[in-house]
Amino acid sequence: MVKPFQKKYLILCGLAVFGTLCLFLRNPIVSYAEKTETTTPSAIYSNPYFRGTKEEREAIIQRMTSLLGVDCNFCHNDDLTVFTEAGEKSKEMMNASVALGVECDYCHIDLKNFRENEQQARNMFELSETMGTECNFCHAGKDKLTTRGEKSKTAFVTREWVTKGTRQCLMCHIEKKQFALNYYGWQVLNTVKGLKGM
Ligand code: HEC
Ligand code: HEC
Ligand code: HEC
Ligand code: HEC
Repeated sequence: MVKPFQKKYLILCGLAVFGTLCLFLRNPIVSYAEKTETTTPSAIYSNPYFRGTKEEREAIIQRMTSLLGVDCNFCHNDDLTVFTEAGEKSKEMMNASVALGVECDYCHIDLKNFRENEQQARNMFELSETMGTECNFCHAGKDKLTTRGEKSKTAFVTREWVTKGTRQCLMCHIEKKQFALNYYGWQVLNTVKGLKGM
């Protein structure tokens, strides 16, 4: 049996524990909310193009900046809160570089001049734009292709992609849908399966 006095005491205790728990639970939520509001450079250390120690990262930034012959604010402000058009473009360029396992100088001599692979690179950017893919859909690092990359290698050859371009791929694949097949594409696939007896 619990006496009335003990009961009150128990309730008080319960309230105290509940209160403390609430404080503990609330705190991280509050500080998290504050963090997302005040922490500006969500960009910091986010891009996989920047690898290694702080020094190595800084060296990468220096190489990129001097190669392109620009100042830091060509791409972003000091706080990394505002990115210029070139800065936004560079994010895509970084994704491309990571997919290919290279740095900017693989294609760039400077901002406006390019190496011999310029046309190839431009075709690839155009292909990715048309099909709604990123470079890593097909590229998995230096000189490595994904399974899909291998498939398109065959398609590039049989479809004379280099001269005839990406439009051709749309005969069987849907634009911007990462090589999903259209109706004709499915017919082709079924015919191929039929021929293979699958
Ligand atoms: C050609 C464009 C460009 C130039 C020039 C440039 N940056 Fe950046 N910087 C970027 C981009 C893009 C990012 C990554 C943003 C992201 O992916 O969120 C970045 C990220 C950074 C970061 C974060 C690094 C990390 O590890 O995440 C720092 C610090 C930075 N830049 C400093 C500088 C400084 C200092 C200079 C000048 C010496 C400079 N940047 C020049 C485009 C540029
Ligand atoms: C695979 C080749 C390739 C790589 C790697 C590459 N770029 Fe580019 N970049 C190009 C091509 C081609 C263009 C021109 C076509 C265009 O603007 O889309 C270009 C254009 C740009 C532009 C716009 C230039 C202008 O006239 O405004 C910027 C900025 C840029 N690149 C930054 C970078 C940075 C930074 C890196 C490294 C992180 C990089 N690129 C890596 C091929 C490349
Ligand atoms: C649909 C698949 C696919 C996509 C998407 C793709 N590539 Fe490629 N890429 C290939 C294939 C296949 C080759 C040819 C490899 C070979 O012939 O050995 C190639 C070759 C290249 C080459 C010349 C070879 C080399 O490694 O230097 C460059 C440069 C290149 N791609 C850049 C890019 C860039 C940049 C993107 C993203 C904008 C991209 N690719 C997106 C499939 C793709
Ligand atoms: C005549 C029809 C046809 C044309 C044109 C065609 N393809 Fe395909 N493609 C197919 C079929 C069918 C498949 C599915 C069978 C398979 O995966 O092997 C396929 C699959 C693919 C895949 C794999 C997709 C995935 O998600 O696994 C890639 C990548 C691809 N094609 C790239 C290309 C490229 C690049 C071009 C243009 C140069 C092209 N194709 C033109 C019929 C076509």
